[in-house]
Amino acid sequence: MKLQLTQSILTAQPKKILKRAKPQETGYIVVLVDDKQQLLGAKALSEHQDRIERLIEAANFEGKAGNTLTDYSISSDKKAAKQPATPLLLVGVGKQAKLTQTNLQKIAKTIYQAIRKSSDSATIVVGDSLDESQFGQFALELLAASYRFDKYKSERSEPTLETISLLADKSQQAAIDFAEAVFQGQSLTRDVANEPGNICFPAYMAEQAEALAKAYPDVLKVTVLGEKQMEKLGMGCFLSVAKGSVKEGKLVLLEYQGKSAFSGSNMVSGVIDAVADKLPTKRSKKKGADTTADDDAPIVLVGKGVTFDSGGISIKPGAAMDEMKFDMGGSAAVLGTMKALCEARLPINVVGALACAENMPSGEATRPGDIVEAMNGMSVEILNTDAEGRLVLCDTLCYVQRYKPKAIIDVATLTGACVIALGHVRSAVFANDEDVLFALENASAQSGDLVWHMPLDDEYQPQLDSPIADIQNIGGRAAGSITAACFLSRFIEEGQAWAHLDIAGTAWTSGKDKAATGRPVPLFMQYLKNAALSK
Ligand code: BES
Ligand code: MN
Ligand code: ZN
Repeated sequence: MKLQLTQSILTAQPKKILKRAKPQETGYIVVLVDDKQQLLGAKALSEHQDRIERLIEAANFEGKAGNTLTDYSISSDKKAAKQPATPLLLVGVGKQAKLTQTNLQKIAKTIYQAIRKSSDSATIVVGDSLDESQFGQFALELLAASYRFDKYKSERSEPTLETISLLADKSQQAAIDFAEAVFQGQSLTRDVANEPGNICFPAYMAEQAEALAKAYPDVLKVTVLGEKQMEKLGMGCFLSVAKGSVKEGKLVLLEYQGKSAFSGSNMVSGVIDAVADKLPTKRSKKKGADTTADDDAPIVLVGKGVTFDSGGISIKPGAAMDEMKFDMGGSAAVLGTMKALCEARLPINVVGALACAENMPSGEATRPGDIVEAMNGMSVEILNTDAEGRLVLCDTLCYVQRYKPKAIIDVATLTGACVIALGHVRSAVFANDEDVLFALENASAQSGDLVWHMPLDDEYQPQLDSPIADIQNIGGRAAGSITAACFLSRFIEEGQAWAHLDIAGTAWTSGKDKAATGRPVPLFMQYLKNAALSK
């Protein structure tokens, strides 16, 4: 679907109005109405305003969020009176002060559903009724309303809209372009996450990454590490998860170098030539010791990519186990963010790491009680093989510190406890660095892709003490999301800025509408855009 700006309602109508045109041959005009029966962006409506207001009164249209009213009888042009009028759709938005991301999503979906049955285009009157963040969120939600995952249905779903025009100021073009880029990335995230486990396994994730690098060869490079390479690197934790599956574990590294490509600065032989393997293994202690390198240092995004989580030997109960195909949602979000970056061409360096493995029970699988060694030399007692996300992540976190990143953000469907704590509204954010936390909280408010700050106090750490190894992989029932974050924190070196997002409750929706949400791609893109602009 195409989303574009327009400066007048007329341009959205077909050039030639056919004599016996049916309603579907002319685009809709969509007008937003609040709960005080006020029209949003009324100024832009000019001659239409009076009649629309009479219609609202006649129908006693209340303007509650999600209310709609369609009218086919109004024509603005007396000469065209015999011709069919442009259909008008009134959409209630509720309280103007409550145009949150959730409500904008609801409004966008309502518009989309109402129109696609009878037309292929619409002009939505926005005017100046939305602020910058709201406009961006609305644009993204209109695009997202067109997303379908119906490749496994013999009968494809209904026709989709071709064009939506937003009647708003020309200055909003950049917001539309950015929303388009985020949509591209978010759709990729949803596509790969919606794939079942028999299609999407670690090698599939690697193929998706390779296809992406092929599509954007000037800015994106991919390296895939298999189990042999991980053995050489000493990634005993990662491998302990992959072991039980016949599918080989893969650590996929995507290096996006937008800084020199899009900021017009000198080409610096930076990230793109440097697979982390070739980089020094120790971080320079002093921050800012090497200013040029620091400036080009990447932000690293690490995604949990457990393509199916059966629990392993600590096998999960049967109910809703199918949903554990979404347990690679973190790495799907990182992959989608890399695509969105390529589309938005942000002048920034970003590395994406996908920690991909399948967690299965078998004769080769890890047993509860097994002790393995992580890449940083720590011994880990695996008491529960279902706490596997932290195991693929800890070795990946050790590895990506070779890039000397400005910040590392990992994202994972890590704990059921997070769903208990925050439900399906906010993702949890844990951080060891105030600047990263602040930046993520800002991006959360701007994008409407919400997070909530959770604690990482040292006082939680003893829950991970093992009687036999350096650390154990579970911390008991209490504070399950926090001890999972504490586990990861043990693999972050002193002075390395790091944040962890637990998206267990936000990466997908359950039940009848079971599907990946594409979160937190909008959050990441807002965060990275802000980071690119603040330099
Ligand atoms: N992938 C799950 C977490 C999960 C569960 C996400 C349900 C979304 C919905 C993770 O690997 C897991 O199994 N975690 C365990 C940890 C426990 C064994 C300490 C959990 O949350 O029960
Ligand atoms: Mn698990
Ligand atoms: Zn898992």
